[in-house]
Amino acid sequence: MAGLVIGCRAVQLLLVSVLLCSLASTTAQHTMGGGSSLSVEARPQPFLVSSDGTFSCGFLQVGDNAFSFSVWFTASRNSTAVWTANRDAPVNGRGSRVTFTRDGELALADANGTMVWTSRMGGVSGGRRGLTISLNDTGNLVIADPSTGSTVWQSFDWPTDTLLPSQQFTRDTKLVAGYYSLNFDNDNVLRLLYYGPDVASSYWPWPDLNLYAAGRTNYNALRIAVLNNTGVFLSSDHLQAQATDLGVGVKRRLTIEQDGNFRMYSLNESTGGWTETWSALLQPCQAHGICGGNSICEYQPSLRCSCLPGHEMTDRRDWRKGCKPLFTIGNCNQGAAPPPPEQFKFIKLPQADFYGFDLAYNESVTFKQCMDLCLRVCECSAFSYRLNGIGKCYPKYMLFNGYVSPNFLGRSIYLKVPREFNESAPRVIADSAATLACSHNVTIVKVSPDVYGKATRNSGKWAYLFAFAGVLGVLDLLFIATGWWFLSSKQSIPSAQEAGYRKVMTSQFRRFTYRELKDATGNFKEELGRGCSGVVYRGVLEGGLVVAVKRLAVDVTPIGPDRARTPEP
Ligand SMILES: *[C@@H]1O[C@H](CO)[C@@H](O)[C@H](O)[C@H]1NC(C)=O
Ligand SMILES: *[C@@H]1O[C@H](CO)[C@@H](O)[C@H](O)[C@H]1NC(C)=O
Ligand SMILES: *[C@@H]1O[C@H](CO)[C@@H](O)[C@H](O)[C@H]1NC(C)=O
Ligand SMILES: *[C@@H]1O[C@H](CO)[C@@H](O)[C@H](O)[C@H]1NC(C)=O
Ligand SMILES: *[C@@H]1O[C@H](CO)[C@@H](O)[C@H](O)[C@H]1NC(C)=O
Ligand SMILES: *[C@@H]1O[C@H](CO)[C@@H](O)[C@H](O)[C@H]1NC(C)=O
Ligand SMILES: *[C@@H]1O[C@H](CO)[C@@H](O)[C@H](O)[C@H]1NC(C)=O
Ligand SMILES: *[C@@H]1O[C@H](CO)[C@@H](O)[C@H](O)[C@H]1NC(C)=O
Repeated sequence: MAGLVIGCRAVQLLLVSVLLCSLASTTAQHTMGGGSSLSVEARPQPFLVSSDGTFSCGFLQVGDNAFSFSVWFTASRNSTAVWTANRDAPVNGRGSRVTFTRDGELALADANGTMVWTSRMGGVSGGRRGLTISLNDTGNLVIADPSTGSTVWQSFDWPTDTLLPSQQFTRDTKLVAGYYSLNFDNDNVLRLLYYGPDVASSYWPWPDLNLYAAGRTNYNALRIAVLNNTGVFLSSDHLQAQATDLGVGVKRRLTIEQDGNFRMYSLNESTGGWTETWSALLQPCQAHGICGGNSICEYQPSLRCSCLPGHEMTDRRDWRKGCKPLFTIGNCNQGAAPPPPEQFKFIKLPQADFYGFDLAYNESVTFKQCMDLCLRVCECSAFSYRLNGIGKCYPKYMLFNGYVSPNFLGRSIYLKVPREFNESAPRVIADSAATLACSHNVTIVKVSPDVYGKATRNSGKWAYLFAFAGVLGVLDLLFIATGWWFLSSKQSIPSAQEAGYRKVMTSQFRRFTYRELKDATGNFKEELGRGCSGVVYRGVLEGGLVVAVKRLAVDVTPIGPDRARTPEP
C-alpha cells in the first residue's frame, strides 16, 4: 500500500519540501497529490521513486547547467533516462521547477517562468480535482483518478527513445534518436528509418531482403509490439527478438541510439552498467546516413567515416552532414550538352557500395558498357558494378549510405572525377571515438576509361569464385565477427583522455581557461594550420606573448548528440 512505505528518503524529501514551503500533501514518495512541486536545485533529487525502488523520476543533468525532467533506473550508474518530458528543450539548472497542479496537470517551467512542457500537451489531463501522480514499478509515470482507478495520462504513451518491459509500442508511438526512428510503417512492418535533412529511407529490416526472409509479415494490421518480462520482444509483424540472457527478474530496456541501431540492454545491478543482449543491426554501417553523403562508412574494427577521394567534410563537427566535392563535374542543367566523356576518369573503391539512388539498373552488361552509360549521363556521379555471373550495373545520381564491407566480394564503386584530379591527396577520416586522422585505409585504384575492355574479360571466372564464396556462408561469419568487434570496441575513450589531459595541464603548466584562450585568439579568428587532431590558431596572451593555440577536434563526431556542446578548456 502506498501510504505505508515512508522510508528514510521520503522523510528527507518531506523535510526539504517543508523547507521549500511548496508541498501541500505528500503521502509517500511514489504517489503524490495535487499541489506538489520540485525545484531543479532540490536535493535529494527524485520527485518520485517507484515502490520497489527500481525507477526514479526528477531532474537529470544533460549538459552544462541544462536539465531535463526524466524517469531513470535508480541503480544505473549514469542514471540512464528511459523517458524524458522535454528532451528537445532542457531547462536552466537554476530556478526551474516541475509542478503537479491541483488541476491534475504535470507542468515543467524554465527559470524565466516559460512553460516548457505539460502533460496536457499529450492528453486530456487537467481540470480535474483529486488526481494523483505515481511512478509505477514498471517505470510508467501515471496520472490517475483514485476514485475510479482510471489512468488520465501515462508516460508509457509518450516514449522518447526507450521501451521498457510491458510498455506497449503501438501504431501511434515512435522511438526517436537524432535522425533515426522506429515505428510501424504503412505496411504494418516495424522498421528503423533514417529521416535526414534531404532524404529518408528505411534500413531495417534490410530492404534487399524480402519480408518473409527477414522473418516478418505485412498481413497483420494489429501493429503492436511489446518486450515481455522474460526478455522477448514480440511484434505483430512476427518479429521475435530474444535477449541473450533470457529470464525473468532482469532489468531491461530497448533503446534506439544515435548511431541508428536499436539495442536491448540488461542492467548489472552490482556495477550499475549495461550489457547489450540484442541489437537490430549486426553491421553498424547498415544504418543509413550514418556518415552523410559522399562518404564511406567502414568498420575495422570500429565504426569510421571517411570522405570520398576529392571531397571534404561539409561541417567539420558533424559527420552526418557528409562531405562535399572539391571539384565540379559540369553543369547538368536541362538543355545543356553533357560534358565530353574525355574530361573524366574513374576511381575504383573496392568492396564499396552506396545504397539506393540508382539512375538505372541494367544487367548482363559489360564493364565498358556500364562505364559508358555513366559517362553519357551528366547526373551520373559514380556507378556500382557487380561481377556475379551477370554483370550488374547501377549508375548513381547521389552517393549516400556508402559503406565498405568485406562481404562485398566482387562489388565495387567507380567514382567519376575530372581527368586532372589527383587521387593521391590525403583524405579526411574519422572514427567513432570522434577524432580526425590524416591517413586512410580505403585502397584507391586509379582506372582510366581505356583500360576497361581487358578487365571485364575475366569477369565470368571471378563471378563463379565469388558466388562460391557466398555459398560457403562467409557472409554470416563476417557479420557475426564484425558484430562482436563492435561490441568489444564500443566503449569510447574521450572522458578518460580528457581526464589525462586535464591532469597534465594542472600538474605542470599554467592552466588557461577556455575564455582566456578565446580572448587571446580573438575568438579563434586567425587560423595558422590544421593538424590531425585540431586546428591551430594564433593568439596573444596578456603581456604580449604570442602563442599558438591548438583547439582539439574532440567535437567532431559521426554520431554526436543533437546539441553541440560548448567546448571545454
Ligand atoms: C558512465 O559513467 C562513467 C563514470 O561514472 C563514465 O566513465 C562512462 O563513460 C559513462 N558512460 C556513459 C555511456 O555515459
Ligand atoms: C525563457 O528562456 C528560454 C531559454 O532558456 C528562452 O528560449 C525563452 O524565450 C525565454 N522566455 C522568456 C519569456 O523570456
Ligand atoms: C503498474 O504496475 C503493475 C505491475 O507492477 C501493473 O500490473 C499495472 O498495470 C501498472 N499500472 C500502470 C498504469 O501502468
Ligand atoms: C515472453 O514471450 C515468450 C515467447 O512468446 C514466452 O515463451 C514467454 O513465456 C513470455 N514471458 C512472459 C513472462 O510472458
Ligand atoms: C556484473 O558485473 C560484474 C563485474 O563486471 C560481473 O562480475 C558480474 O558477473 C556481472 N553480473 C551480471 C549478472 O552480468
Ligand atoms: C541495357 O544495356 C543494353 C546494352 O548496353 C542496352 O541495349 C539496353 O537498352 C539497356 N537497358 C536499359 C534498361 O538501360
Ligand atoms: C598529387 O598529390 C601528391 C600528394 O599530395 C603529390 O605528391 C603529387 O605531386 C601530386 N601530383 C600531381 C600530378 O599534382
Ligand atoms: C589499415 O588497416 C590495416 C589492416 O587492415 C591496419 O593494420 C592499419 O593499422 C590500418 N591503418 C589505419 C590508419 O587505420
